Amino acid sequence: MLNSDQIVYLNGEFVALEDARISVLDRGFIYGDGVYEVIPIYARTPFRMPQHLARLQNSLDGIRLPNPHSEAQWDALVRELARKQPFDDQALYLQITRGVAKRDHAFPAGVPPTVFMMSNPLPLPSREQVDKGVAVVTAEDNRWHRCDLKTTSLLGNVLMRQLAVDAGAVECVMFRDGFLTEASASNVLLVKDGRVIAPPKDHLILPGITYDATLDVTRAAGVPLDVRKVTREEALAADEMWLSSSTKEVLAVTRVDGAPFGGGMPGPVFRRVWTAFQAAKPK
Ligand SMILES: Cc1ncc(COP(=O)(O)O)c(C=O)c1O
Repeated sequence: MLNSDQIVYLNGEFVALEDARISVLDRGFIYGDGVYEVIPIYARTPFRMPQHLARLQNSLDGIRLPNPHSEAQWDALVRELARKQPFDDQALYLQITRGVAKRDHAFPAGVPPTVFMMSNPLPLPSREQVDKGVAVVTAEDNRWHRCDLKTTSLLGNVLMRQLAVDAGAVECVMFRDGFLTEASASNVLLVKDGRVIAPPKDHLILPGITYDATLDVTRAAGVPLDVRKVTREEALAADEMWLSSSTKEVLAVTRVDGAPFGGGMPGPVFRRVWTAFQAAKPK
């Protein structure tokens, strides 16, 4: 259900969701010509905001769209929108599109970008999902080659996620040319013989802020870590597989393509890192 009273931000104003209106000619609507961020907020404190704003700048640079705000302005807007919500833990979404113009693929000149922000309750995994792990399906990664940019053109990811939903799973883990990339809305990490293995942050995956947070707590816990490419065979023979994202935090995978994975229960390294991750969150 949409909450039409929810306060959102659109182009300089805080308004009720039902009053937030954009043109059908917005390039976000017509082309998916925009970028976005999702910032988790715990107890009204944004988690790793500088890192989210740095990734936003990288996405804007990647699509050649000037940043409409300074870091200080973004920081103030994010905190103000969070303050206006009646709940403490939030998933704050912000997007910037190339604005409203006559339909033409080429960039329009002199058009202000559209800036939209909303914040919803943070949909963290259930206790059962944390304790028992979750199911994934696998597929060939057929998205474009700039998966490092967090663009609103998400049709590839949408179709992958639906494969998971159709199979009663929570995520679709993807492989490109025989190597693990990521999942439709999360990064994927593995454990083999007590070592955490993470695919490198190249142009084929989104550089997840939670991926970095998970690797930081892994290092701090003294767990050995390798950042390197992983083949499909190696990934499917790992002892543990984890998903990481702002709304999943870190979550164990215990079923892959309908069969139990890693003994069908979250592994010991996951439990250690999950506990350390919980301790590192703002209270
Ligand atoms: C494709 C993809 N990969 C990875 C992630 C995880 O990124 P983060 O940890 O910053 O939420 C996301 C987040 O939604 C995503 O959409």
